[in-house]
Formats: sequence, C-alpha cells, structure tokens
Amino acid sequence: STSQSDTLRTPIVAVLGHVDHGKTSLLDKIRGSAVSDGEAGAITQHIGATAVPLETVSQMAGSLVKPEDFDLPGLLFIDTPGHHSFSTLRSRGGALADIAILVVDVNDSFQPQTEEAIDILKRTGTPFIVAANKIDTTPGWNPQEGEPIQKSYEAQSKRARSKLDEKLYEIIGELSDMGFSSDFYWRVQNFQSNIGVVPVSALTGEGIPDLLGVLMGLSQRYMKDEMAIDVAGPGSGTVLEVKEERGFGATLDVVLYDGTIRAGDTVVVGGANDPIVTEVRALLQPRPNAEIRTEKRFDKVDSVRAAAGVKIAAPDLEDAMAGAPVRVVGDRDIDEVIREVEAE
Ligand code: GTP
Ligand code: MG
Repeated sequence: STSQSDTLRTPIVAVLGHVDHGKTSLLDKIRGSAVSDGEAGAITQHIGATAVPLETVSQMAGSLVKPEDFDLPGLLFIDTPGHHSFSTLRSRGGALADIAILVVDVNDSFQPQTEEAIDILKRTGTPFIVAANKIDTTPGWNPQEGEPIQKSYEAQSKRARSKLDEKLYEIIGELSDMGFSSDFYWRVQNFQSNIGVVPVSALTGEGIPDLLGVLMGLSQRYMKDEMAIDVAGPGSGTVLEVKEERGFGATLDVVLYDGTIRAGDTVVVGGANDPIVTEVRALLQPRPNAEIRTEKRFDKVDSVRAAAGVKIAAPDLEDAMAGAPVRVVGDRDIDEVIREVEAE
C-alpha cells in the first residue's frame, strides 16, 4: 500500500543571500548542528545539502507545523556560499530549488549578493520568502528563545519593536525597488503575488517556527503537483562535489532531484572530457539532519529517492565535475542518456 507521502517528492529549498548574513547559522539552528563554527573564516565555500524530516520540522515549529496537516516527507535544504567569488555555486543552488529562502541581515539590508540572488530567483522563476535575520541584534531586544515571532514581538518594548519595524520596512522597500511587492508574512494573503518577510534570529531561534510554517504551507499548497512525480523512475541529479573517500576512491556528492537511484544502477555522469558511464558500487546516505558537506558518518543503503543528498561510489569517477548532471539509465537507450548528459 502506498500512502500519498510515499509518492511525493521532498521539496528542495535553496538558502541564498549575501556573505555572513546567516544562511549556514539558520540551517544549523534548524538541524541542531554547528557547521558554521567549523568553516574556515566562517565562509561557506561549497554547496551543502541537508534532509530535514517532517518530524524535525514540526518539533522546531511547534503548533505552526502539525505533522498530520502535511503529506510532504520533509524539506531538503541547499546551503549556498554568499561570498562574491562563488556566483557559479549560487546559480547552481538556485537552479536546483523548488522554493528559496533569501536571507537578509536586518542591519545590512540589501547587499550585492542579495541582489544577485534575487536575479537568480527571477531567472529561474523560483518562488521565495525572505528571512530577515539577526533580529536579536536590535537595540534593547528581549530574546525569546525558539518562540514564534508574534510571541517574541509581544515581549519587546515599543521602542525595540519600532526599531525592528524600521529595518524591516527598509527590506520591503528594497524588494519593491527590485520589482517585488512584499509585506510582513502574516499580512500576506496571496504568496504567489506577494513576498512574505519573516523576521528571524538564527542565534535565538525566534521566528524560525514561522519560517518553517510558511515554507511547509507554501510547499504543500502550491507545489504538491510538482512534487507528485514518478519517484520510482530513473534518478536524475547534480554533482555538488567530487571527493576522495578512503576505500572508495573518487566519489560524488550528489543532489538527487528526481526519481530513484539504486546500487548496481548504470549511470551517466558529466566528465571533464566525455560523459562517464559507470555502475554504482555503493550509495552512502547522510543521516537525517546531517550536512552532506561535513558529515563523516554515512549509512550504506540500497536505494535513494528524490529529493535527497547522496554520496555515490563507483569506478572511474576521477574526471567527474562539480555541477555535472548524473542520470540513471534504467531501461532507456544508453546512447540517448549520454546525449542528454552531453547536451546539459
Ligand atoms: P556565507 O556562507 O559565507 O555566505 O555566510 P553565512 O550567510 O552562511 O553566514 P553564517 O551563518 O556563517 O554567519 C555569519 C556570522 O553571523 C556568524 O558569526 C554568525 O554567528 C552570525 N550570525 C548568524 N545569524 C545570526 C543571528 O541571528 N544573530 C546574531 N547575533 N548573529 C548571527
Ligand atoms: Mg554559510
């Protein structure tokens, strides 16, 4: 028997924004990790992927995400670098996304890579919400650990509240300059024509229940048709990184965005010269809430279903390239799949 959640794909959520505005910290808060602390100079230099199950989302969001209201399996978060030199990685992350979070530091408002991120989202037609981050730095702020934003607002002095509102209106003004109408998310009626702005703190967790609630609500409401794919069909993915792993040689960190990949499958991977045709020797899946980029422990699995981050071990992957397509051949004509990979 297959319930609906067995056939719905996990939505892919890209996190984009200017350097240091708090993308990795926000994900750290959601998944309960400290990836940002381990980064050289606290700068993200690669695309990351973390599968957050519905159970974790609802634990974080409390009454704002009741698991029984959703039949999506959770969210796959894609972390991207904000440093200006990584624009290729931002585009790649944006291209994978079903929906995006644009992270904006309330003190810095719009910066060059904020605008670049918006351009990417415009180009790819990706719906997004804005996380107005670091609200805890508002002068006089009275932090409300992990609480929804309404509760947090109620605990603030009038002065602190209006200081924050001032900053939020600045962001709303910047969005308007870029052609988007937006508002505080609780005032938005139609998220297809209006961008919701969610005040959050990655440090205190305030507003994160709201952020997750809006994300899940939007995914469930507007993207269910797109998520109802043939999850048993041949897998498609994008290489995030090519990594040497002890005992496996060159392996691929991949975001699988469609279908299923199985151990033993013949796959075609974009290479530095010609497409590589190889057979999957092992599939290594990061545990729930783990960042594939930094995780050391993986579970060896027989198959992985979209959307997910997965490490693929197979012979002859030395010439594979970050950003390249990965296709499971399945019962298709292999030459056709090779042409498809060449064309990408
Ligand atoms: P890049 O990946 O390099 O673009 O940076 P990032 O957007 O991932 O930023 P990161 O999460 O690494 O955070 C940058 C700095 O801001 C770190 O020192 C964080 O501790 C701090 N920071 C992030 N979010 C918050 C927040 O909500 N409040 C406060 N006070 N500090 C924050
Ligand atoms: Mg980061």
